[in-house]
Amino acid sequence: MALADFVAELDALEAAAVSAFAAAKDAAALEAARVEFTGAKAGRLKAAQQGLGKVDKADKPAAGKRFNEAKQAVEAALAAAQERMAKADKPRAAEAFDPTLPGRRLRLGHLHPVTQTIADMKDIMGRLGFTAVEGPEIEDEWHNFEALNIPRTHPARDPLDNFYLATAQAGAKTQANGSAGQGEKPLLLRSQTSTVQIRVMEGTPPPVRIISLGRVYRPDTADATHYPMFHQIEGLYVDRRVTMADLKSVLRLFCQSYFGKDEVHIRFRPSFFPFTEPSVEVDMNWQGGWMEMGGAGMVDPNVLRAVGYDPEEVTGFAFGLGVERVCMRQHGITDIRALYENDVRFLSQF
Ligand code: DAH
Repeated sequence: MALADFVAELDALEAAAVSAFAAAKDAAALEAARVEFTGAKAGRLKAAQQGLGKVDKADKPAAGKRFNEAKQAVEAALAAAQERMAKADKPRAAEAFDPTLPGRRLRLGHLHPVTQTIADMKDIMGRLGFTAVEGPEIEDEWHNFEALNIPRTHPARDPLDNFYLATAQAGAKTQANGSAGQGEKPLLLRSQTSTVQIRVMEGTPPPVRIISLGRVYRPDTADATHYPMFHQIEGLYVDRRVTMADLKSVLRLFCQSYFGKDEVHIRFRPSFFPFTEPSVEVDMNWQGGWMEMGGAGMVDPNVLRAVGYDPEEVTGFAFGLGVERVCMRQHGITDIRALYENDVRFLSQF
């Protein structure tokens, strides 16, 4: 092969390689060009090197020199293209994180409106000196009825008006010819938080000043104002010389704090509860409408005696209010069922 032909072939190869590397738009294209020209086995440079053997002997030094130049030029063009590619990638990676952009907000959940109301009530009553205590939701008849001066014959104890539990003991009782034997204790889901009054007084000498917030259960058909499970706040204050005036002041302060700046009025209507004497229904007036809140009264001497307190020494007031009512009144909710359907579109508003 003549030297001129060999050189012409190398010139063409070098020009083709340089323009192919320069034109490569991405890493894959560059890699394909690299294989085509500098591939160790079938690259075009490799083929040209084999052509070197066919050049006339006298021309070999010149041909070899030209081959080395072409090889270096091709490799330099490849290195330049690779560097260009690496640089092009970097700014894009930097753009992906812009520390000046505002962060992405995570959607946080929040407390259920009834839970919020309970927390607010605990907070307010805590500031008035009432300690929050808890009692069990499964109760015996002593705490739910007996000690609260609700005798066996009282209609409130009707099995149809309560969720009695089908316990092993209750089953044994039916078998044992229907008569209540020793140690048999029917259990029920508590129908009122007044149970906690008894539990606290049984375990603590006077004075006591507590609230208890929790669930109560009654087999009511659910409608806009009834639900088989709801919450009550129970309050109890027993000490020397506690009066009905204290009761009214505490309830008024409580409602006033809960509902905020607006003037709140409390109204008592005579009523009857077995565990208080006298007993009242408590109404509250806020933004021009009266709302029934629950019951209250002076702790009946029979209740004080049942827990070992001396009614000649101490007196006390008690109250039991509906938590959902207060929560619904605050938010303008008109159907109690909405609180327990767990529809996030509803709950997320509060
Ligand atoms: N336990 C009563 C009820 O569920 C409410 C109640 C009334 C509680 C008078 C009291 C009270 O502590 O003194 O209807």
